Amino acid sequence: MPRKNFYITTPIYYPSGSPHMGHAYSSIIADVLARFKRIEGYNVHFLTGTDEHGLKIQREAEKSGKETQLFCDEISKKFKNLTKILNLSNNDFIRTTEMRHHKSVESIWNKLIQSGDIYLDKYKGWYSISDEAYYDEDEIKDLNGEKIAISSGSIVEWVEEDSFFFKLSSWSEKLLAHYKSNPKFIMPSSRRNEVVRFVEKGLSDLSVSRTSFSWGIPVPKNSKHVIYVWLDALTNYLSALDFPDTSCKLYSNYWPADLHIIGKDILRFHAIYWPAFLMAANIPLPKRVFGHGWILSEEKKMSKSIGNILDPLEIIENYGIDQLRYYLIKEVSLGNDGNISLINLKKCINNDLANNYGNLCQRVFSFIKKNCSNKIPNKETNSKKGKELTDKLKNNIEELVELMNNQDLNTYIKSIIDYSFDSNKYFNDSEPWSLKKTNLKEMNSVLFFITEQIKNISILLLPVIPISANKVLDILNVDKSLRNLTGITKNDNLLSNKELGNIEILFKKVE
Ligand code: MSP
Repeated sequence: MPRKNFYITTPIYYPSGSPHMGHAYSSIIADVLARFKRIEGYNVHFLTGTDEHGLKIQREAEKSGKETQLFCDEISKKFKNLTKILNLSNNDFIRTTEMRHHKSVESIWNKLIQSGDIYLDKYKGWYSISDEAYYDEDEIKDLNGEKIAISSGSIVEWVEEDSFFFKLSSWSEKLLAHYKSNPKFIMPSSRRNEVVRFVEKGLSDLSVSRTSFSWGIPVPKNSKHVIYVWLDALTNYLSALDFPDTSCKLYSNYWPADLHIIGKDILRFHAIYWPAFLMAANIPLPKRVFGHGWILSEEKKMSKSIGNILDPLEIIENYGIDQLRYYLIKEVSLGNDGNISLINLKKCINNDLANNYGNLCQRVFSFIKKNCSNKIPNKETNSKKGKELTDKLKNNIEELVELMNNQDLNTYIKSIIDYSFDSNKYFNDSEPWSLKKTNLKEMNSVLFFITEQIKNISILLLPVIPISANKVLDILNVDKSLRNLTGITKNDNLLSNKELGNIEILFKKVE
């Protein structure tokens, strides 16, 4: 049977400052899901990148005194480096200043012109440069003599200029019909309801070009205008598949996208504008947009201006990347806002990784090394409890797949760590050290079942803590081709009689 394809994306990040924990969070979520789909047997295309046009970037570059492209090159490089530091398994990194993207945006624009969805008029209204978004009068308020957007708190300014408009108003009904017939198009459902309520109020046409600055992709045949940065940015998901060449392999294999992972602050762009642009251009819609919550520090959104930023690079240097990945996925309930702190990070590393999973591997491997000449024993009795332990996990695979297909990362990770807890208990209760003196066959069976369970837990942990889980699978000599769900469900005796590799400490306890 041919393998199925799966296309997943992160938001593309503004290279306006150094990457922070919020960016790391979006990317880690997408990476965990991408890696899970791979172990499930899919060909996965995983895209991330940087969103480099618009007034916000132009102004940041001016402030730094650098030429805009050079400014983008430097910061985009930091985001690219971050993909390595976060151990992302992305297949591509797109920059909106690349030629492939430019071509793709021009093509979308031309399609919208041809379909009659774009017209020329004058824009008058409020605009936030920080959000690169337009706001209606009822979406702003006065604060200390300044006008700010209620939703984001960013300052808005009055803009009046010639502008092309997209006929968004004519797409409301079709969008609502799409949400209705595809109830999982926007997830989680609380976010979906927000969007539906907003669209039901009726949509205004959207200004999709600007004339007051030049850092962007010029409107074809009218270079006085540059294309609105969100129409430009959203198209990255297509440019990376070589759109408009729809007959190419990338596009035909991976479009429509299966999953756009985004933060809740950019839901409107992905769940309203993007599908409307695509419908108007007659391009199939992505299957799902998942809007995750914010990472909070001291109960507030992490931001430069508040000064409550936890630097991912510092944390990774002090505690390790698997540790950070595990913590973010376990601690923050996906879809909701979640508070993170150093104290809880340390607790999580000690409780779940060092004392639970790490300890399980360590004690079982050391026992085998000491008592079985370092060789994993064979099952010699039908140890009921051991079989129960391993069957419980094996029989739950479909449910775990279902959880991941609904992006329920928290329940997934809690189930896996519970398996590890149960395995520690099984090891304690079975007392292989006593069995050594009384029932060697039973001891061997206990060790057989527990190593089998460690292998299966490690496979399930691969998407979240790939470095550590692979270390364990290396120690167990599990073939690379079986480091996936087949390696769990396959009934062959994969481990017995294999010698254990070098055992090393997986997770150090932290103070
Ligand atoms: N460039 C746009 C996205 C274009 S996608 C076609 C953008 N960039 S961003 O750099 O400002 O933010 C990118 C993502 O990081 C957003 O999804 C945003 O929600 C996420 N985060 C930024 N700060 C965050 C937190 N404090 N917590 C969690 N994620 C947040 O928007």
